Amino acid sequence: MGDKYEKMEKVGEGTYGKVYKAKDKETGQLVALKKTRLETDEEGIPPTALREISILQMLSTSIYVVRLLCVEHIENKSGKPILYLVFEYLDTDLKKYITSYKKGGNSKSLDPELVRSFLFQLCKGVAHCHSHGVLHRDLKPQNLLVDKEKCILKIADLGLGRAFTVPLKSYTHEIVTLWYRAPEVLLGSTHYSTAVDMWSVGCIFAEMARMQALFPGDSEFQQLLHIFRLLGTPGEEEWPGVTSLRDWHSYPTWEPQNLAGAVPSLDPNGVDLLTKMLKYDPADRISAKAAMDHPYFDSLDKSQF
Ligand SMILES: Nc1ncnc2c1ncn2[C@@H]1O[C@H](COP(=O)(O)OP(=O)(O)O)[C@@H](O)[C@H]1O
Ligand SMILES: [Mg+2]
Repeated sequence: MGDKYEKMEKVGEGTYGKVYKAKDKETGQLVALKKTRLETDEEGIPPTALREISILQMLSTSIYVVRLLCVEHIENKSGKPILYLVFEYLDTDLKKYITSYKKGGNSKSLDPELVRSFLFQLCKGVAHCHSHGVLHRDLKPQNLLVDKEKCILKIADLGLGRAFTVPLKSYTHEIVTLWYRAPEVLLGSTHYSTAVDMWSVGCIFAEMARMQALFPGDSEFQQLLHIFRLLGTPGEEEWPGVTSLRDWHSYPTWEPQNLAGAVPSLDPNGVDLLTKMLKYDPADRISAKAAMDHPYFDSLDKSQF
């Protein structure tokens, strides 16, 4: 791994490639090395990659976004230069964190105060991205890094979505999860907005509270049915234009269920906030900024953030 870093274990295998834990030989600092798929050719780095890297660098100014430390060209075995993104290293991601918490015998919920704190940090990070005009588009527990000791949550895997476009399968043919995907995306809407990220935030919020995915669909169709069974089949009244979306079909008619029943550990303010994040009409869905002012966070000491 060049001369600068000592490669340690593999920490992740995501949509585009492997991520390694490594140590900066000079400073001893732990970093995460992420290989990009953009193997450079004689023509150099594609301009889209450069644009995305500068977006990442800009967003790294929030402590709720993982810090991009630098970008390195490292030669692979055949002497071909590969572009690596070098990030600050965090202990774990939210998916691993929830899994290990469950293995410890705690299966009901994360500590409600930790859920509140993590959700606030997530909203703060998302608000930061949105204020810079950047959509994440693939928010999910695997893409949220956690510093266990400091109880800090940071958004990762940002921005490259637009250079690479979100594929249906990863490079290892692992199916890309649909569980956090907004209904307008599933229904083929082409005008996405910041609301797609807030849907994902809602799904993640519910998952922290119940320790299980809220809508674990295994195909786009099944994903929609999971959503419709809980929230009711949408119609033109609550979501004007829904029946004209590209992939709209007729679906069984379900009545909305009581959302509180799906997240028993959430207090009424939490259920209210979740309801606002899971609004069908993207125009009605709460923004990250507005979410931060919701009464659910009143009991949180916001000065620590
Ligand atoms: N900075 C980091 N510190 C620790 N682990 C990381 C870091 N970045 C990524 N990971 C781990 O690697 C996994 C894949 O990284 P990610 O950036 O999401 O790549 P992909 O685009 O391939 O999904 C993450 O889910 C996480 O477990
Ligand atoms: Mg990822």
